[in-house]
Amino acid sequence: MAATKKILLLGSGELGREFVISAKRLGAHVVACDSYAGAPAMQVADEAEVFSMLDGAALGAVIERHQPDFIVPEVEAIRTEVLKDYEDRGLSVVPSARATVMTMNRDRIREVAAQELGLPTSRYLYAETLVEMRAAVAQVGMPCVVKPVMSSSGKGQSTVKSQAEVDAAWDYAVSGMRGDRVRVIVEAFIAFDYEITLLTIRTRDGVIFCPPIGHRQERGDYQESWQPTPMTPAAVAEAQRQAKAVVDNLGGYGLFGVEFFVKGDDVIFSELSPRPHDTGMVTLISQNLTEFDLHARAILGLPIPAITQHGASASAVILADRDATGFTIAGLERALVPSAPGIELDIRIFNKPTTRPYRRMGVALALIRDGDTDAARMAARAAAAKVRIDYR
Ligand SMILES: Nc1ncnc2c1ncn2[C@@H]1O[C@H](COP(=O)(O)OP(=O)(O)O)[C@@H](O)[C@H]1O
Ligand SMILES: [Mg+2]
Repeated sequence: MAATKKILLLGSGELGREFVISAKRLGAHVVACDSYAGAPAMQVADEAEVFSMLDGAALGAVIERHQPDFIVPEVEAIRTEVLKDYEDRGLSVVPSARATVMTMNRDRIREVAAQELGLPTSRYLYAETLVEMRAAVAQVGMPCVVKPVMSSSGKGQSTVKSQAEVDAAWDYAVSGMRGDRVRVIVEAFIAFDYEITLLTIRTRDGVIFCPPIGHRQERGDYQESWQPTPMTPAAVAEAQRQAKAVVDNLGGYGLFGVEFFVKGDDVIFSELSPRPHDTGMVTLISQNLTEFDLHARAILGLPIPAITQHGASASAVILADRDATGFTIAGLERALVPSAPGIELDIRIFNKPTTRPYRRMGVALALIRDGDTDAARMAARAAAAKVRIDYR
């Protein structure tokens, strides 16, 4: 038998937690890291390390101590230059050190997609000062979306619809940015018909795809997702072509969440995560292999013979609404009762130790094997709404 593979997981949120479960089922030993103790993934991992992953020296020390076979980032906020050094010394960074650097900087991945690969994207410009941003907005046109180049989950992101909103958008972006690069991207607003995440898996046997996932965002953060989503075969093929071009450029093995806007016949590349995607949590009920199973298999070099989709599926988030440490999550006994035969329901509670306004505390999942996605969405939302957070 091969020696147990050791995985150092950088980031221990809900996506990391499900990944730990998938990887451990395949026999891996997982060390879960994050900046606070008791994080969701740490609760199910073999070992935990608490430190700032933006601190290069601390990150290096943890890597030296554990000597992992694989370093698997779950979040963007990591001192990624350190990963490059370890990759150069033969350690496997998932999917590759370059992919982690490129995708944590919106401008770098945008240059690869739009300039190097020639993929269709929104019109865009960058700005490093308020004066530059005013000029960029004038050139790109309104409405436009302003985002810090280093940020995630909608942090610092806003839509500018009139001249009067420009200065506030700059201040908001600067306050929401991570890292030390004061730089924003100004993107033309795309009035898309719908947006999707195409889960794309780069394996030793080639690139494979899950059926497209539709989703709805608020404040730049995902609220519900569903799979499959109605899409023409031509649009699916075009999204797959673009996704393959990007993941082949980034290299390595693993699952990627590639985001597109679709408007009429146009498929417009937006951004991607080189790791499981929050909207992909619908695969916890929709497929035989979840996005976490697929990531684990691709990393460990295990076969993925077929991905089976079970039918109309949806996920809906369960959000907190205030800062609290004393709270209990209740109502599961009602939430898990389907409103009609043929509806299958499930729930994941993440067991985060504290709440914050809009913090994602869990997700409700629905599957209707012979139904449509609208009904599945409604069932997932209804289940999520029955879960209560009782604050003390
Ligand atoms: N140029 C755009 N036009 C229209 N909507 C956008 C645009 N950019 C972002 N959005 C909306 O904001 C969401 C979050 O933006 P995204 O670039 O994916 O940032 P994040 O890294 O925070 O996920 C998108 O899923 C989409 O709903
Ligand atoms: Mg996104």
